Amino acid sequence: MKTLNEIRSTFLNYFDAQGHQIVPSSPLVPRNDPTLMFTAAGMVQFKNLFTGVETREYSRATSAQKCVRAGGKHNDLDNVGYTARHHTFFEMLGNFSFGDYFKAEAIPFAWDLLTKEFGIDPNRLLVTVYHTDEEAVKIWKAHTGLPDERIIRIATDDNFWSAGPTGPCGPCTEIFYDHGDHIWGGPPGSPEEDGDRFVEIWNLVFMQYEQFEDGTRQPLPNQSIDTGMGIERVAALLQGTNDNYATDLMRNLIEASAHASSTDPDGPGKTHHRVIADHLRSTSFLIADGVMPSNEGRGYVLRRIMRRAMRHAHLLGVKDPLMHQLVPSLVQQMGAAYPELGQAQSLIRETLLLEETRFRQTLDRGLKLLDDELSGLPEGATLPGEAAFKLYDTYGFPLDLTQDALREKGRAVDTDGFDTAMAAQKAKARAAWAGSGEAADATVWFDVADKSGVTEFLGYDTESAEGQIVALVQGSDQVDAAAVGSDVQVALNQTPFYAESGGQVGDTGVIRTQTGIVNVTDTRKSAGVFVHFGHVVEGEVKPGQTAVLEVDRLRRSAIRANHSATHLLHEALRNALGDHVSQRGSLNAHDRLRFDFSHAKGLSQEELTQVEREVNDYIRQNTPVETRIMTPDDARAMGAQALFGEKYGDEVRVVSMGQLEGSGKGSDKSTYSLELCGGTHVRQTGDIGAFVLLGDSASSAGVRRIEALTGTEALAWLREQEAALSRVAAELKTATSDVPERVRALLDERRSLSNEVAQLRRELAMSGGGAAAPEAREVNGVKFIGQVLSGITGKDLPGLVDEHKAKLGSGAVLLIADTGGKAAVAGGVTQDLTDRVSAVDMVKAAVSELGGKGGGGRPDMAQGGGASAENAEAAIAAAENILKG
Ligand code: ALA
Repeated sequence: MKTLNEIRSTFLNYFDAQGHQIVPSSPLVPRNDPTLMFTAAGMVQFKNLFTGVETREYSRATSAQKCVRAGGKHNDLDNVGYTARHHTFFEMLGNFSFGDYFKAEAIPFAWDLLTKEFGIDPNRLLVTVYHTDEEAVKIWKAHTGLPDERIIRIATDDNFWSAGPTGPCGPCTEIFYDHGDHIWGGPPGSPEEDGDRFVEIWNLVFMQYEQFEDGTRQPLPNQSIDTGMGIERVAALLQGTNDNYATDLMRNLIEASAHASSTDPDGPGKTHHRVIADHLRSTSFLIADGVMPSNEGRGYVLRRIMRRAMRHAHLLGVKDPLMHQLVPSLVQQMGAAYPELGQAQSLIRETLLLEETRFRQTLDRGLKLLDDELSGLPEGATLPGEAAFKLYDTYGFPLDLTQDALREKGRAVDTDGFDTAMAAQKAKARAAWAGSGEAADATVWFDVADKSGVTEFLGYDTESAEGQIVALVQGSDQVDAAAVGSDVQVALNQTPFYAESGGQVGDTGVIRTQTGIVNVTDTRKSAGVFVHFGHVVEGEVKPGQTAVLEVDRLRRSAIRANHSATHLLHEALRNALGDHVSQRGSLNAHDRLRFDFSHAKGLSQEELTQVEREVNDYIRQNTPVETRIMTPDDARAMGAQALFGEKYGDEVRVVSMGQLEGSGKGSDKSTYSLELCGGTHVRQTGDIGAFVLLGDSASSAGVRRIEALTGTEALAWLREQEAALSRVAAELKTATSDVPERVRALLDERRSLSNEVAQLRRELAMSGGGAAAPEAREVNGVKFIGQVLSGITGKDLPGLVDEHKAKLGSGAVLLIADTGGKAAVAGGVTQDLTDRVSAVDMVKAAVSELGGKGGGGRPDMAQGGGASAENAEAAIAAAENILKG
């Protein structure tokens, strides 16, 4: 018996041998199709190869594609557990030709694989073709000898396949397996076709046309092939069953569920085990692909699936959370084919555990409310929408969960009433928002959110994706188009652009549609809508268009590095300064980071060095940065740093990085940094590259601010410093390492030289500046020296005055220094004469001649200053006049 894993590799190897490139499964969240909620077919990742928009090195490919059909157009959720073949998660095996081979090769490839490689009895196979496709009929007959009655012509869409309302499409041929007449059912096209006897196993699509928005259909540039075979179905028939849940892989998961719940896998809990096994796969794969439970969009679909499984686990009667215990079994079954599952194992376990723990807290009360409601209703009556809404709103019961619970009792929900109650709540929220004081022009964004929902952010995992334009706004009005040259604000259903928040700046980049290009200069959030501020640089863009969204990657990776470094910095500061350190603000731009934190005094050089070194140590540790979703309370209980005064919703992202020395991985205490944060982060701390702390300053009372650089900015800064130092060393003609000593020596030398210069100046001045030394004159019986000096400063004057006084023995002195533009004045009177004349008076008299004011000091020594030395002679004369009395 072939196991499911063997079937997968047989399929891929078979097409590999036929010249097909084995291409890994693409993520469950499609990168290239904004209209799809989840990847639901193998062709999704090749969509643009069929239309010729994209080419690759290969023109034949084969893949095993993980698919989810829940939420959105393809929704099998409600049936899972109750039927033999419905799944929310399944794998689609496929082979593809992009303008290479067509029908004549595709049909024989499929037939030979089934009948020769897999050894399926050809007598049990039959096929359908599109009713006009005689070519396919001919090929089937020629290659297989199938009789006419086993080639069935079908005129409906069942045999014309397209992925959506637009895109590549074409007629198809489907291969069916007859499980035998012991099972009820008829061949396709017959009134009994819905029975389980004839099961479709493989669909071969002859991609031939492209369908456009206006309803027209054009031939594709190249005829192509897209096939899809559900691995679970083919495994079932190869393993001799018609029940997908009886195949080895699903059976192992069911047994794991039975074991963990100590129940019988085939007993009364059979349906519960099936639901759990199926939902374990979809939820785990979705989490591994970056989807987190939330109340919007994809995250909400994930939550619905999780909660549905958790209710079934509850119905098994188990007391403790169950789902997370089954993750190792799933990884064991599928981890080899899908390594992402093993990599995300701990994240999957934790996410499931938290969700189940929380949900169990309200599950009992919710179920009780449901029972109370039902007991008050007549037998078989539908549950009022109000009650279903209360279950949703208060107890976290998604509508389909309530429907699932009622299904067992043969009852339904009044879904219209549910919608009405939901609309009423939205209206209330809007009224509350209108009164919140947010800018009036944000009203337009509330309208957009009302109509199209909030924006789904894809940017944790990718920097490029497709989105659908849901609104264009100019000024504060919605517009039908924005043309080249105009500014526009663009809203899309989903986006990889990060909208400014939590200190992280908004992304920039480009939005491209088939008709125009918008350069995005900033992204911000309003009423849950991501608003892309841009300028139309080519053509025009319109609401409804599909757009290719490209974030400026280099800029984003620099922002990411700064944001992650901020977390490390925060922790390093707490280690260096104490637990009182908490964040007061931050900026994570592409070229720098800034972090404000509570701390009273400036940091010492040692503290700054310690912090910088510690951050760099954790960068070099290069451990993965992990993100989890939990309640704010759980996060705080784990010791996560939360922003003071910040309001958090029901769920928060918790970002952890760094591994404490000597601690075992996984324990919370071992994590270096743990913070509540909605920003984008590096994958590994090593991606930050380097961290340079520029300095610390006061931001406001009791708050310090640190500025720092990371990555290339840090290296550029270091390089600049290095270049400046080298220039200095070159000027000094010394090695850079000797620069401090040389500079110190030069400063010492300068100091002694300037002392020497000052001394020489004084001496020169005393000796008359090279001219005749000033003669003392007799004024009113007092020896007086009055002199104008240049080349010296005001500071030199008192010393010179003293020297003159000493030489005179008894007398008065007035000196004026012409300092180039201004004038400095000093006067002195020997002690024996201070009763008769005051130096202060002399200086004051002189200063007023020099256009100055005041002057002061003691009777024996005074100083002052004037606007210019122009009237120096008059000033000296004025001082003489004082002597004259
Ligand atoms: N794309 C085709 C399908 O999903 C093969 O059925």
